[in-house]
Amino acid sequence: MNVYLDNSATTRVRDEVINEIIDVFKKNYGNPSSLHRMGFEVEKKVKNARVIISKFLNVNENEIFFTSGGTESNNIAVQGIINKLKRRGNHIVTTKIEHPSIMNIFKYYELNGFEVTYLDTNEFGLINLEQLEKCITENTILAAIMMVNNENGTIQPIDEIRKIIKAKNRNTKIHVDGIQAFGKLKVDLKKLGIDSFSFSGHKFHAPKGVGGLYLSNNINIEPVVYGAGQESGKRAGTENVPGIVGMGKAVEILHKNFKNEIDHVSEIKQYFIDAVKSNITDIRFNSYIDENCAPHVVNVSFLGTKAEVLLHYLENYNIFISTGSACSSRDKSVSKILLAMGLKEKEIEGAIRFSFSHYNNKEEVDYVVDKLKICISEIRKIMKR
Ligand SMILES: Cc1ncc(COP(=O)(O)O)c(C=O)c1O
Repeated sequence: MNVYLDNSATTRVRDEVINEIIDVFKKNYGNPSSLHRMGFEVEKKVKNARVIISKFLNVNENEIFFTSGGTESNNIAVQGIINKLKRRGNHIVTTKIEHPSIMNIFKYYELNGFEVTYLDTNEFGLINLEQLEKCITENTILAAIMMVNNENGTIQPIDEIRKIIKAKNRNTKIHVDGIQAFGKLKVDLKKLGIDSFSFSGHKFHAPKGVGGLYLSNNINIEPVVYGAGQESGKRAGTENVPGIVGMGKAVEILHKNFKNEIDHVSEIKQYFIDAVKSNITDIRFNSYIDENCAPHVVNVSFLGTKAEVLLHYLENYNIFISTGSACSSRDKSVSKILLAMGLKEKEIEGAIRFSFSHYNNKEEVDYVVDKLKICISEIRKIMKR
């Protein structure tokens, strides 16, 4: 049996999406900017994907911009907003638990003279709203706060966060990294009233190397990528048409099946949590086991083990999981995110992220928990010596 439980790192592309992409490669290889019929046909396909995604997020079609993925979307929004507004103020706000594609931009601007507030969180990664309220001043031009954390699934109360920020300074722009939230939570951006929101195709069964950015019609950004003006000048460069069309197809299917797929994922995750609780001792859940956590992720510490060793033991049984975010797990130091949440080194050392998709089933969970029991008992014996 092959069990893939690393869906926060990336997901399997849906068959229908693959078929759509192959079709585009074979038939629609024109450039959407070309003036002839082949170009026009391709442009129509790109527009169709934009319409599908704008409906899913409840925004206007002209507020969606295609990019090469989550990292680029975050950079275009954060750098674009700061560079546009830097004459108005030099205070920017983020959290201590952001993905590197946000965190490293803030480090860069900090080195270049900006005043940065990195918000603290509780032990599960919920930000401190009082600290947020206190730190916003007339000098604050941007707050970037993720919707769902990539290591433990904690959901920030973005609606409340927006109210707090805008009450203190209605000119402060709000960017939300929505990459782990898109397709997992119901997101209505018109209701939410934030200024920008990023997403990435490979996290919801579309290919890698394509993503998008919602930019409200109410904000203006300085472009980060200059070129021939594609995507209304917000992200120049010939469009990744197969990727965009594939991502549109993935969202179309997701939109139709959203409730069923999310209900299934939630059920599988709960089944896994219950099985771990009743079969394995000395554990600590590093995620909320309630509605404060996204339906697809749970982070657990198996005390007295080393997560990296456990990962390779499980790999021998064709079980694929993660010790944290895939992007940082090659960095051998302990998870900066779990450390920022205040976990002890011992807890971080044995922390594993399990992330599910609608492709998973209970039979796989039974297999994983059975092998977990065997591997953990072996590792604990060795570590006690
Ligand atoms: C919360 C979060 N932000 C940003 C990214 C980066 O997205 P991409 O891999 O599309 O560049 C990831 C990917 O792991 C993520 O989980």
